[in-house]
Amino acid sequence: MFTSSTLTGSKPEQYAQLQAQAQALVHGERDRIANAANLAALIFNSLPSLNWAGFYLYDGQELVVGPFQGLPACVRIPLDKGVCGAAARTRQTQRIEDVDAFPGHIACDSASRSELVVPLVKGDTLVGVLDLDSPELARFDEDDQRGLEAIARVFVDSLA
Ligand code: SME
Repeated sequence: MFTSSTLTGSKPEQYAQLQAQAQALVHGERDRIANAANLAALIFNSLPSLNWAGFYLYDGQELVVGPFQGLPACVRIPLDKGVCGAAARTRQTQRIEDVDAFPGHIACDSASRSELVVPLVKGDTLVGVLDLDSPELARFDEDDQRGLEAIARVFVDSLA
């Protein structure tokens, strides 16, 4: 049974603890759906002020919703659409302080005000994106970006 422990200390210290929990969760498991599901649940239940946390997986043409926590979401996102498409296309993390100011933002949940999307790339291959939404403006800072990029690496490294 997984017992979540409260994150303590500075933000980087908290992300180091979260990363260790993420590593423990995927240890010995290579199934991408299983690992994405557990990591989405870990993130959503560990970090404050989120209304959505989860994965979109690339099917070779577009992003398709994968394991997540939050309200039901858009199923397919073309790479030329939305914050998720921008992260997948550019392979650069998108940290959006105000989603209403991002041209082409896709509003799956009208409560979302800011968003962080980390591309998932294994070798040269696009695997998908890790997407977090918050009902707070500018919820994500550089510490969050670095911390969630590290969690994204845990996921990518876990894959067969
Ligand atoms: N807002 C995203 C769509 C996915 S939902 O946030 C879950 C986007 O603009 O790509």
